[in-house]
Amino acid sequence: MSAPRHFLTLNDLTADELRGIIARAIELKRLHREGIPHARYPGRVLAMIFAKASTRTRVSFEAGMAQLGGSAMFLSAADTQLGRGEPIEDTAKVISSMVDIVMIRTFEHSDVERFAANSRVPVINALTNDYHPCQLLADMQTWFEARGDIRGARVTWLGDGNNMCQSYMNAARLLDFELVIGCPEGYEPQAELLAQHRDRVRVVHNAEEAAAGADLLVTDVWASMGQEAEQLARAKAMAPFQLTRALLNRANDGALYMHCLPAHRGEEITAELMDAQDSIIWEEAENRLHAQKALMEFLLG
Ligand code: CP
Ligand code: NVA
Repeated sequence: MSAPRHFLTLNDLTADELRGIIARAIELKRLHREGIPHARYPGRVLAMIFAKASTRTRVSFEAGMAQLGGSAMFLSAADTQLGRGEPIEDTAKVISSMVDIVMIRTFEHSDVERFAANSRVPVINALTNDYHPCQLLADMQTWFEARGDIRGARVTWLGDGNNMCQSYMNAARLLDFELVIGCPEGYEPQAELLAQHRDRVRVVHNAEEAAAGADLLVTDVWASMGQEAEQLARAKAMAPFQLTRALLNRANDGALYMHCLPAHRGEEITAELMDAQDSIIWEEAENRLHAQKALMEFLLG
């Protein structure tokens, strides 16, 4: 039996494969909206392991698998034997002997790597402390729908150099766009990753400078899941990087803005931008469904 393909970071795909998944996601969205059946995987089962909270990821994977003709099983890490210390390797061998595809949201990125190394079916990273590649599929689909290919565009990340930011770095390399990261000192992404992406990614510590010339502005919460105790210190440090209308006006004409959600209105983004008529944030959220269906089709073959 050949080794399964996994999706732990965007780097598990070639640029052509990524563009293919985005194109298929756009097609699946049309089929879904027109009520055209596309249940290609009857009887297939997706296991969804969650060690952190979720709204979008859970609903989009579970609904998506149902629309593809299969079914999805929600497993809270705390309620499985994982929560009582059964090794990840043993868990992976057992679960992957019973289902067709696995999705995991957890803390340590190395945990999804260990699971994948012991899984006989594809494993999808549905967010770790280091990466959130599924969200990038949806964000890129949203951009492609609105503006076409993102090659050569300028994207500005604002706030924390977190898991989302690091997945944007991977996307910049794969899809050939420029990424400027506007963040306070001490909140940069991992130094090693920055070094690897030096040709397309740079860090600036000033929000106005970061926003100037951008075609897309992206932000996310200032304290990610697991960092709740640092909320106050982070809010203080990142306040100058709030995504506001004034900052958007510094970007290129027609610049778009995104947020993976959940958002904190009045912290990393203003309520006005969240609720603006021309916001594509809700489209971005919906696209999680279509993008992950395209991803599951790709991995299931
Ligand atoms: N954007 C995102 O992953 O949302 P959830 O945490 O609700 O899944
Ligand atoms: N950076 C956030 C993203 C939530 C979807 C977190 O990890 O909590």
